[in-house]
Amino acid sequence: MTFTFRLSLLLLVAAWNFEPASTANILFLSPITSYSHTHFFFYTIKALASRGHTITHWNGLKPREDIRNVTHLHSTGLQKVNSRHDIGFDTNNPLKLWFKHPERMANVCKTCYNDPVFHQLITSREQFDLIVIEAFMNECVLPLVQHFRAPFIYLSGLPPLPWMFESTCSPMSTQEYPVLVTDFTDEMNLFQRTINIVVSTAMIYFRNWFILPRVDVEARHAWINSSEPLPTVKEIENRLSLFITNSQPSLTYHYFKSSTIVDAGGLHLRPPKPLPKDVEAFVNGSADAGFIVLSFGSIVHGSGMPEATRKIFVAAFSRLPQRILWKWEDESGMDDLPANVRLYTWLPPLLDLLAHPKMRLLMTHGGLYSNQETVWSGVPLIGFPVFGDQSNYVSKAEKDGYAIKLDWMTLTEDTLYNSIHEIITNPKYKENVQKLSSLMREQIEMDRPLERAVHAIEHVARHHGAPHLRPASCRLNMLQRESMDVTLLLVLIILALAYLVVFIVRSSASRVLKWTKTDQMKKKTQ
Ligand SMILES: *[C@@H]1O[C@H](CO)[C@@H](O)[C@H](O)[C@H]1NC(C)=O
Ligand SMILES: *[C@@H]1O[C@H](CO)[C@@H](O)[C@H](O)[C@H]1NC(C)=O
Ligand SMILES: *[C@@H]1O[C@H](CO)[C@@H](O)[C@H](O)[C@H]1NC(C)=O
Repeated sequence: MTFTFRLSLLLLVAAWNFEPASTANILFLSPITSYSHTHFFFYTIKALASRGHTITHWNGLKPREDIRNVTHLHSTGLQKVNSRHDIGFDTNNPLKLWFKHPERMANVCKTCYNDPVFHQLITSREQFDLIVIEAFMNECVLPLVQHFRAPFIYLSGLPPLPWMFESTCSPMSTQEYPVLVTDFTDEMNLFQRTINIVVSTAMIYFRNWFILPRVDVEARHAWINSSEPLPTVKEIENRLSLFITNSQPSLTYHYFKSSTIVDAGGLHLRPPKPLPKDVEAFVNGSADAGFIVLSFGSIVHGSGMPEATRKIFVAAFSRLPQRILWKWEDESGMDDLPANVRLYTWLPPLLDLLAHPKMRLLMTHGGLYSNQETVWSGVPLIGFPVFGDQSNYVSKAEKDGYAIKLDWMTLTEDTLYNSIHEIITNPKYKENVQKLSSLMREQIEMDRPLERAVHAIEHVARHHGAPHLRPASCRLNMLQRESMDVTLLLVLIILALAYLVVFIVRSSASRVLKWTKTDQMKKKTQ
């Protein structure tokens, strides 16, 4: 066989493999979402639709583009919930956010269950081969898994949180995988590892004991089939077939995983498109100095920042030679805007801005997507984490040498100006990010995350679930899976042995003492 013949045979086999054997009817559920989480869903759905699968998608946000072969179910009530997250610059205390979570979930579930789309689905007789659910805050839709009696997959716009390790029967990897709400890196000392394991475990049990029971209460009200009692959402979740997650080896700390977890981070990354004419003209005008983008993403509104912080940005920007594009949602603008700064209520996709040859620096809240996109494009960043997982990603970016982390609460004009100056003039930031970028590009181009996700979904649909991927340790609870019970037993055995040794030494010592005493007495009496 000649080489070319073998190669074409290989390609033929590959092409044949990529054709789906049969098409499936798939229901995607993401009533609670954000624009950034939508990316991860959107690209997966588009790829499945183009392979001929029938897709129904209930999304909480109006899709930015219609996809052929996809039926969109959309609700205006949810649009409001999803575009206003009530997270601003003042609500960044993670404990407060966390303790409010059960209440928040109960409200979210009520909104979902009162929605006409939910009623349409819970009364539907349609047969779905598979249900795919956005993994963050969508536990309310688990009763639909019970109703349709279909296998289900979680598709997660985030890298795994502790309870996702629990539901996939994976270890928590707390020795090197910092829980996303901390800003630890993968090198933790004993104290940090202790915090890490306590926080991870506490999050799992807080969810099991305080969050999911609230969902159960609401779900029982919404459940209409009186001939069949509704299991708890936890029981339904334990049937999970697969967990597809937005983590990527160049950007996510390492964790150990069972075969129920599929890494598909970066599946949304694509070649850039040209910028709109007016934006391109503005950035073109920056000559060699280049331009900077400041954006706090889609959840936090940048224009909600305190006035004192806004003034610091304005003052530092006025000292720079670069042009600045500032995402500012307040239409009334600013009176004191320097000539090199322009405000935009809406910016073109970050991927397109980042790919522009004059792009020098991204200033951001440091969310996962802006991080992935800056690395993909090879641009350094300054991160101002506001809440949740952002601090974790920015700390990693700083450790990897392509970012500076600033605290917007203690920000001064000089620290801001000096940090921007440092990143733009010191070549090491650009070099580090480009090195990481070439690793990431190779990983994504050679080992395509989108195809991996699509294959995994088709595999589960074809086989009506994937119990063969679930490890036997699924029957253990998290503490048992982490061998904490074994550690405790060993400690008890060692303590018991130590006690025994002390007891024997002591009693023999006192016996020896007694003997010597009686000996001496005998000698005296003689
Ligand atoms: C729609 O589905 C058909 C097969 O049912 C497929 O041939 C076609 O490519 C799909 N169209 C798009 C735009 O995905
Ligand atoms: C109610 O549940 C039973 C199974 O217990 C099922 O056969 C029936 O179709 C369900 N009814 C509806 C309306 O879903
Ligand atoms: C911006 O500059 C590039 C390269 O010089 C050029 O190709 C492009 O047409 C310019 N765009 C605008 C809108 O001026």
